[in-house]
Amino acid sequence: MAEPVVESAAKRLVVLVSGSGTNLQALIDAIAETGPGAYGAEIVAVGADRGGIEGLARAERAGLPTFVCRVKDHATREEWDAALAEAVAAYEPDLVVSAGFMRIVGKEFLARFGGRFVNTHPALLPSFPGAHGVRDALAYGARVTGCTVHFVDDGVDTGPIIAQGVVEIRDEDDESALHERIKEVERRLLVDVVGRLARNGYRIEGRKVVIQ
Ligand code: GAR
Repeated sequence: MAEPVVESAAKRLVVLVSGSGTNLQALIDAIAETGPGAYGAEIVAVGADRGGIEGLARAERAGLPTFVCRVKDHATREEWDAALAEAVAAYEPDLVVSAGFMRIVGKEFLARFGGRFVNTHPALLPSFPGAHGVRDALAYGARVTGCTVHFVDDGVDTGPIIAQGVVEIRDEDDESALHERIKEVERRLLVDVVGRLARNGYRIEGRKVVIQ
C-alpha cells in the first residue's frame, strides 16, 4: 500500500509592496499552481506603505489579508518602523519578502525580522543599489545588469546575496524596456529562491547564504 503523502507545514510569508506587484503575483500564482505544501510556503498577508496600488488589488483578488502602514501617519520614521514591524508581526511570518517595497526599514524592524527579511533588487548588487537600479545601470553604460535576491541588513541593498539573474543591456533599451526584461527574470528567480528557502531551510554564514 502506498504511504500517505505527509506534506510538511508551509512557511508563513508576509509580502511587502509599493507598486504594481507583479513579483507578488508570481508568488501567488506559483503557490496556487503547486499548492502551499509542495511549494513550501503560503502568503498570510500583503502589506504596503501606500493605498490604491495594483499590488494591494492583486492581493485582494487572491483573497489575501492586506494592511497599509504609511510613513506620513506617524510622527517619526522610528514610529513608522515600529508600527510596520508590529503590523507584520501580527501575522507571525517565517519569512518577510520585500517585492518592490520602496522603503528602507529601520532598527526595530530588523531587530525582529533580520535574517528572514528578503528583498529583490533590479540590478546586480553590489552595483547600482538604491531606488534607481535600472536607470543607474543604463546611465553608467553597463553591458549587463540583472536582479539580486538578498537578505536585508542595515545598509541600502548591502545584505548577503542569495541569488542573481543576468540580463543583457541592448543599445535600444530605455529604462522601462530594460526594467520589463529584468522583471521577467526577477519573478522566476524570486519564486525559485523563496520556495527553496522555505522548503530546505538555510543559514547565513557571514556574507554567504547556504540553502540546505
Ligand atoms: C522590481 O523590479 C523590484 O526589484 C524593484 O521594484 C520592482 C517592483 O516590481 N524594487 C526596487 O527597485 C527596490 N529598490 P513589481 O511591483 O511589479 O513587483
